[in-house]
Amino acid sequence: MDSIIVTGGQPLSGQISIAGAKNAALALMPVTLLTDEPLTLTNAPRLSDIKTMTLLLESLGTEVTAMQGGKVIALSSHGLTSTRADYDIVRKMRASNLVLGPLLARAHQAVVSLPGGCAIGARPMDIHITALEALGAEIDLRDGYLHAVARGGLRGARVPLRFASVGATENVLMAATLARGTTVIENAAREPEIVDLAQCLRRMGAQIEGEGTSTITIEGVDRLHGATHSVVTDRIELGTYMLAPVIAGGEIELLGGRMDLVAAFAEKLDAAGVSVTETAKGLLVRLRGDRPRAVDVVTEPFPGFPTDLQAQMMAMLCCAEGVSVLEERIFENRFMHAPELMRMGAQIEVHGGTATVTGVERLRGAPVMATDLRASVSLILAGLAAEGETQVNRVYHLDRGYEHVEDKLGAVGARIARVPGS
Ligand code: EPZ
Repeated sequence: MDSIIVTGGQPLSGQISIAGAKNAALALMPVTLLTDEPLTLTNAPRLSDIKTMTLLLESLGTEVTAMQGGKVIALSSHGLTSTRADYDIVRKMRASNLVLGPLLARAHQAVVSLPGGCAIGARPMDIHITALEALGAEIDLRDGYLHAVARGGLRGARVPLRFASVGATENVLMAATLARGTTVIENAAREPEIVDLAQCLRRMGAQIEGEGTSTITIEGVDRLHGATHSVVTDRIELGTYMLAPVIAGGEIELLGGRMDLVAAFAEKLDAAGVSVTETAKGLLVRLRGDRPRAVDVVTEPFPGFPTDLQAQMMAMLCCAEGVSVLEERIFENRFMHAPELMRMGAQIEVHGGTATVTGVERLRGAPVMATDLRASVSLILAGLAAEGETQVNRVYHLDRGYEHVEDKLGAVGARIARVPGS
């Protein structure tokens, strides 16, 4: 298993290009199952999760061709050979469950493994199941798999979600495009990745209104045709790298960055004493003073503060002036980065879903362990501010969601290197 070694104390300067969104691409790829015509995705991120989704779709009979080093992905599902998503793939990546809705819509059946828990929580699928049952699916849980059938196909319905689940919204949105009649998703997730998915489906002939709001209306159509779609910028990668100059000092321009994708996050950075300005190419970020100020954070569904930036924000607040309180309201176990940050001298108290961080002048480098995707990158960020060397182990977590993090940070002056694992 590879490690990454960061030596702190280097102010950063230059530009970092932001890739296409992992969480948009993972919802856009299963769209191929809804049509027998080719779907081409451009601006795709080059990540291990994309490779996992490729393996899953190929196991269903989709032909996937990666071009331009993976930035362009051509998918074609003219003939499905299976409707079963096996546990050995799904357990590695929860987003595999996004083939459930499209398979039900196209093939009127699906057998999809429950993903099982992951580091950040139990990750149940009750909201997906209830929602798809509202569209007429019959879903049984047997031997760890969801066995789903839609006799005679899906039919439009009113689908109230008990929580604005991103994945459940995506599964229902995709399924409803081919259902007979009108579907209204209530309390729908509003994330930019949902908007991107709806725009791609509309380009394929789907009739959708209201994406980005809490109510999405879909008129089912008989079939969808192929399309080419550019994946929206990754707001979580963007927010992650916006924190790099705040923690390490200096100034960075994030190419492709858009303020509308990170408004709540940028507001918090402003309160912490960070200057974020829009340029012709993206966002320019630097710390106004010589140390960030403490701020309180509550994670919420979009447009609130994103849970996927909570760990990274905590790393920055470990070095801020004052006491910050972070409340994690989306996942039940998303503070595993805290004990690792404490090994670096951070002062953090965790009680249930609340972490209280008392800022210290300097963190000290130490060997630390990555536990999940966003926790691992928060340790890299902390290493940029720490005295001495930080070795982050198990960086396969990192490679799931960040393209060549050592290259992107190294190119702006960070002292960072990947050490191949034994
Ligand atoms: C998506 O996961 C993202 N993943 C996550 O990003 C992100 O943290 C999450 O949305 C919230 O924004 C992808 O898009 C691939 P949810 P998803 O359904 O769809 C509970 C990353 O780091 N819930 O909105 O799985 C669930 O347990 C990843 O890139 C149910 O109880 O998130 C969680 O507590 C991590 N029942 C909350 O809702 C359900 O049926 C939010 O889950 C579904 C979800």
